[in-house]
Amino acid sequence: MHYLVTGHTGFKGSWLSLMLQMQGHEVSGISLNPPTKSLFVEAGLEGTFKHDFRVDIRNKKELSDAVLKINPEIIIHLAAQPLVRESYKFPVETFETNVIGTLNVLEATKQLQNLKSALIITTDKVYKNHNHLRGYVETDELGGDDPYSASKAAADIATQSWIKSFAKVPMAVARAGNVIGGGDWATDRIIPDLVNAYSNNDLPTLRYPDAIRPWQHVLDCLNGYLKLIDYMLATGKGGEWNFGPSLDSKHSVGDLSKAVSAKYGITSKAWTLEEESQPHEAGYLLLDSSKSRSALNWNDKLSFTQTIDWTVDWYRSNSPALNITREQISNYLKV
Ligand SMILES: NC(=O)c1ccc[n+]([C@@H]2O[C@H](COP(=O)([O-])OP(=O)(O)OC[C@H]3O[C@@H](n4cnc5c(N)ncnc54)[C@H](O)[C@@H]3O)[C@@H](O)[C@H]2O)c1
Repeated sequence: MHYLVTGHTGFKGSWLSLMLQMQGHEVSGISLNPPTKSLFVEAGLEGTFKHDFRVDIRNKKELSDAVLKINPEIIIHLAAQPLVRESYKFPVETFETNVIGTLNVLEATKQLQNLKSALIITTDKVYKNHNHLRGYVETDELGGDDPYSASKAAADIATQSWIKSFAKVPMAVARAGNVIGGGDWATDRIIPDLVNAYSNNDLPTLRYPDAIRPWQHVLDCLNGYLKLIDYMLATGKGGEWNFGPSLDSKHSVGDLSKAVSAKYGITSKAWTLEEESQPHEAGYLLLDSSKSRSALNWNDKLSFTQTIDWTVDWYRSNSPALNITREQISNYLKV
């Protein structure tokens, strides 16, 4: 099958592209250039794609031309401005990329003859946060306080409307949790912050150590996306789908930091607390993924402990980035 992955130069996109290639698929990509410190660059993924376009998805014409040239059978749309703190600095650009960019991708599919299915990636943060102690289900109200969450909720609503109005092939929305794994170097993300600090014998500064998040290994998340595509191809149905860890797995930012610090042999204090006042972030956020578990027969294969082990092992590995990433994908596919 020929996949178009938008956001292929990003963290999830690099893992996904490699995973698809290892499963024998052709992969093309549309993204911006990756930062020098990124999995895409470290693993040398440049040159491994059928087509590799560096196009801003806000540019409707250039995007449309690239999508037509690629002429994919499956689209997984990951490209986004995905950082909450960046969204406070650049709210308009965040909405343009996440909402208009997504609509531009959907509109570009109208010209495709070979398209069989498309999957639009939003996030767990699309749910209007009531600090529920239960997991959010797909039918819960959408909304967002910070610009990133609001832009993704808006993208989710726009996608659902577009699909109902125009889709000729099955298309779906996937909402996954806080994904972690090797090769994430984004600023203001928890794993890069922890790894940078602990590997330099330093302590990270945490903003919300008590915040509960649906931590999930990137491969568990991507496996969910691919199972959903199989389901769409088999049934012709789309819809909205959550992919989060089991609801028994309730772990805070502080728990994550302690687990990572222990892997670096740090057994005492694992962090210092950020004292400056911080932009709002939800305190409690879990996803109920019962629908995906029952209808797609999807389950997270890696426990919280294994997720931390695989992640830290990646960063501490002496193997080249491509080798350790391929090795983890291959081990994951065997689990
Ligand atoms: N990482 C997480 O924990 C997480 C959690 C939930 C949802 N998501 C969603 O998953 C997707 C991928 O996230 P990620 O963690 O890989 O992010 P990332 O920042 O590593 O990658 C983002 C990708 O989008 C591309 N991009 C950004 N703006 C663009 C533009 N204007 N035009 C074209 N391409 C553009 C970048 O070049 C990059 O390839 C996003 O949609 C994000 O909202 C991520």
